[in-house]
Amino acid sequence: MELKGLILSGGTGSRLRPITHTSAKQLVPVANKPVLYYGIEALRNAGISDIGIVVGETAPEIEAAVGDGSNWDVNITYIPQEAPLGLAHAVLTAEDFLGDSSFVMYLGDNLLRDGIEELVESFVSNSPDALILLQEVPNPESYGVAECEGSEVRRLVEKPKDPRSNLALVGIYMFTPEIFQCAREIKPSARGELEITDAIQCLIDQGRRVESHVVQGWWKDTGKLEDMLEANRLILDALEGDIRGKVESSEIHGRVVIEDGARVSDCTIRGPVIIGENAYVHDSYIGPYTSIYYDSEVGNSEIEHSIILEQSKVIDLRGRMEGSLIGKNVQIIRLEQRPRAYRFMVGDNSWIGII
Ligand code: DAU
Repeated sequence: MELKGLILSGGTGSRLRPITHTSAKQLVPVANKPVLYYGIEALRNAGISDIGIVVGETAPEIEAAVGDGSNWDVNITYIPQEAPLGLAHAVLTAEDFLGDSSFVMYLGDNLLRDGIEELVESFVSNSPDALILLQEVPNPESYGVAECEGSEVRRLVEKPKDPRSNLALVGIYMFTPEIFQCAREIKPSARGELEITDAIQCLIDQGRRVESHVVQGWWKDTGKLEDMLEANRLILDALEGDIRGKVESSEIHGRVVIEDGARVSDCTIRGPVIIGENAYVHDSYIGPYTSIYYDSEVGNSEIEHSIILEQSKVIDLRGRMEGSLIGKNVQIIRLEQRPRAYRFMVGDNSWIGII
């Protein structure tokens, strides 16, 4: 049976503002690779080559980044969703693309360490009506929550105030075309969305077999700053060092990737760290779990546990920066002019902590 893939990359990304005022949250890089690419690779590695990507307002940016899929040896079809009306709405929007195929739905902001090859195999061989992935979490109220008997799912509730279990729904689902009828039957939730969680509950109510698998390796929904930094930490933890750029008068400790065209001079770099193409890092300390994306510059500063996007500058910071996410084309620089004062040009919903 040939499965199709459906990646959801619409939505608004309100919890990652201001980064997502101007960019798609699925394109924020984790260890210098857009989150969305990890999903495409997971599907490709599971043998799925026909992939639809549901896109919203940020469609042009996603299409520019992913193209026709030939970089991954897959075929990509873009499926515009008129508005982010919910995950089940996204499935209905993709109905023509999916046809009568079973499919894997992958939320474009989710990251799963261990891939999905075995799960896809078990979905194909056990042929349940749906297979969902679960993980125990300390804050189930932030997710869809499942109650199971053995591996059979009995009840699902989206972001319940009083969760009846600590098993959260991971944003990766396997469906047969049975899901369409249920997606059509449900009503919008309190947050005004057609919830996939409710559509799966409808399958259960109709007596269909919904199986679950509890994921053991790590999983991250990168929708919030802390989760994004944590995902960056987890991916960098498995990084292998590789120095392709130029290093001058610097100490490099641990696993560090310095990409092509990057230059590091007079620095101490303590890995795991990745420094992107054509970045320039000088007179600085770069500490563990830091990703600096392409064409950026860091000078005379100390940075740890942070993500810096492309074409940004951090120069002459006096305190150490940590736990930060810096967008594209941002400049944090020291001014010599008088009067001596802070000067900000900061977007809506930004957040700055000073010492
Ligand atoms: O991450 C796992 C969680 O994902 C599950 O535990 C929840 O049950 C599930 O509802 C979902 O919750 P979120 O509130 O985190 O979903 P979010 O709105 O962030 O959307 C997930 C992805 O789908 C994101 O990449 C944007 C995209 N999306 C979202 C909506 C609502 C669309 O493409 N279209 C949409 O209409």
